[in-house]
Amino acid sequence: MSSLSPQTAPSPRRDRAPATARTAVVTGASSGIGAATARRLARAGAAVALLARRTGAVEAVAREITADGGTAVPVVCDVASPDDLELAARRVAQEIGTVDLLVNNAGVMHASPVADRRADQWRAMVDTNVLGVLHTTAAFLPALTAAARSGHRADIVNVSSIAGNTMFAPGFAVYNATKAAVSALSATLRSELLADGIRVTDLRPGLASTEVGRHLPQEMLDGFHEEHRALSPDEVADAILYVTRQPAHLAVPSLVVTPVTQ
Ligand SMILES: NC(=O)c1ccc[n+]([C@@H]2O[C@H](COP(=O)([O-])OP(=O)(O)OC[C@H]3O[C@@H](n4cnc5c(N)ncnc54)[C@H](OP(=O)(O)O)[C@@H]3O)[C@@H](O)[C@H]2O)c1
Repeated sequence: MSSLSPQTAPSPRRDRAPATARTAVVTGASSGIGAATARRLARAGAAVALLARRTGAVEAVAREITADGGTAVPVVCDVASPDDLELAARRVAQEIGTVDLLVNNAGVMHASPVADRRADQWRAMVDTNVLGVLHTTAAFLPALTAAARSGHRADIVNVSSIAGNTMFAPGFAVYNATKAAVSALSATLRSELLADGIRVTDLRPGLASTEVGRHLPQEMLDGFHEEHRALSPDEVADAILYVTRQPAHLAVPSLVVTPVTQ
């Protein structure tokens, strides 16, 4: 019998890797690293909830995953809103079950020199990049704990940045501080959750080609990209998949991926 006979031809679902099948939430899944991670996880057999604010964009990524044979639920949600997150957690539980993987990826970046006194921009970065990680983690922690107690691997991957411990350009005091906070809180969260069997990873990417620079002056953005060959969103997503594929006894507390020159 040929390996392509009707009995043995792989179905779109069966050719996915069952060992990596997870029930995942990815925040900031409407573009860039989050969208790439959601696609990659779905390809690996995970059911994925995609959280972001832009309805059209998050629904488009979810449709693409579904058309490819994957399972994706778009959830319009602002990670700065604990109420949104409580609703999201309920909806995700109803639609795809108990979450065992949370990728805290949503983030915003402004070049906001302190002397400019743009407290609105400082607040947007702190609310999304720091409080957003805390609110999201708190909302999905009961599910992650339940997953770990029932013998599943349970992971939180926080997308920080090398900006947390590198001064990469003037104007980034607040952005860099938010990313330093994400790395610091990841380390402590790891110690809080390890007894429950929940692994926490601080992922620190360098420059990647995404929409995160949409608020930056074009010449500044061009300068970054002239200096370094940026990572693709898929390359960062691959690092996230690497973390989540490890056997239950192996933790990856932190991981840095950058362009060679950075
Ligand atoms: N690109 C880089 O060079 C780089 C390097 C290191 C670290 N990072 C980090 O990587 C993460 C992903 O960024 P990216 O580079 O992929 O940029 P991106 O394409 O701009 O993605 C950011 C995502 O976050 C979402 N988001 C922003 N505020 C949100 C909120 N309040 N609630 C829910 N979702 C929100 C956006 O969706 P909506 O607008 O639809 O809400 C979008 O999906 C960020 O944390 C960023 O700081 C990026």
